[in-house]
Amino acid sequence: MRASFLTGYGGDDVMSFGDMPDPIIKDGQALIDVRAAGVNPVELAMRSGGFQRVLPYTFPQVPGFDISGVVREVSGQSPFKVGDEVYARMPNRSPGAYAERAIVPTDLLAKKPSRVSHIEAASLPTVALTAWQAFFERALLNKGDRVLIQAGAGGAGSVAIQLAKRAGAHVTATAGSANQQLLRDLGADVAVDYSQQRFEDFGPYDVVYDGVGGDLIERSILSLAPGGRYVGLVMVADSRAFVSIGLPEAIAKAAAAGIARYEELAASRGAEFHGPLTRPDGAQLAEIAALVDAGAIKPLVTQVFGLDQLAAAYQALATKRTRGKLVVDTTKWA
Ligand SMILES: NC(=O)c1ccc[n+]([C@@H]2O[C@H](COP(=O)([O-])OP(=O)(O)OC[C@H]3O[C@@H](n4cnc5c(N)ncnc54)[C@H](OP(=O)(O)O)[C@@H]3O)[C@@H](O)[C@H]2O)c1
Repeated sequence: MRASFLTGYGGDDVMSFGDMPDPIIKDGQALIDVRAAGVNPVELAMRSGGFQRVLPYTFPQVPGFDISGVVREVSGQSPFKVGDEVYARMPNRSPGAYAERAIVPTDLLAKKPSRVSHIEAASLPTVALTAWQAFFERALLNKGDRVLIQAGAGGAGSVAIQLAKRAGAHVTATAGSANQQLLRDLGADVAVDYSQQRFEDFGPYDVVYDGVGGDLIERSILSLAPGGRYVGLVMVADSRAFVSIGLPEAIAKAAAAGIARYEELAASRGAEFHGPLTRPDGAQLAEIAALVDAGAIKPLVTQVFGLDQLAAAYQALATKRTRGKLVVDTTKWA
């Protein structure tokens, strides 16, 4: 099969396109004819080796987690059959989306939302699961909560705005000047231009969903109302997150030691700090597909690349200026 793959840890220099052996399925797995694969920023950190202690790659490695496609083969009992159109978030430990075929445990599959294309469906799994797990497993969002979405114009933020609105929250979102209308179009009640305004002036917030991190972590925690919940996505994984990707408790605690000061800051203000890592989940993707089919979540895909253009997709993503999602059409190459 054709695939885009990495030959080692590094940058553009380790990216290749060519033939790879077809994956072979085991019991409980499905072989998927991949039609499209969504691109996520974590792949840049994984390519450079930033995750090699907790999620090591084996080379040649096909990266990528988000797929939409058609079931080609199933092994074992499963509600899915050959020919079903499905989408999935692949496991953190076994990516492989940028290929003509990929293997997915059947419990991670869900029927693809029928009203969108494979390109649009492939843009959703990671960012929609991230928002779902942040709001419903961590922040325990209530109707009427005031939610701040940092980086509302990006992949994670554009879905989070729509999901928070659907859950009945009042949503404030941040972006640069060029993306203010986009925030409103996605459903934000208040759009904040970070180049001219301070998000603190529109708070306090019950929940902050932070896709920016860095200096904004402390500022976001300080903008919470008592009882507020901060959910950070950028380099602040907590021990619960590391346990969720399979690390033993003691190692997870050590890996999360760096965020103790944020947890203490939040606690000192009667608020909570959360640093989740996205977990694949077929049942949650089925609920998300229902929301997509009901028109409550609309995928936002702004650029599509060929299967041999993954390096260009990564370059675009590295600018941190892309809107919505970038997707690779795995059926096309030069
Ligand atoms: N923990 C997890 O499991 C998890 C899951 C998903 C994502 N993440 C992380 O979350 C981050 C966001 O992911 P993503 O997919 O949304 O990335 P993305 O699509 O690359 O984000 C790009 C967007 O960020 C906006 N942005 C950049 N700087 C900003 C700032 N200072 N304030 C507000 N907006 C800003 C840009 O809007 P402007 O051009 O208008 O500035 C752009 O639209 C990434 O670091 C990703 O790795 C983590």
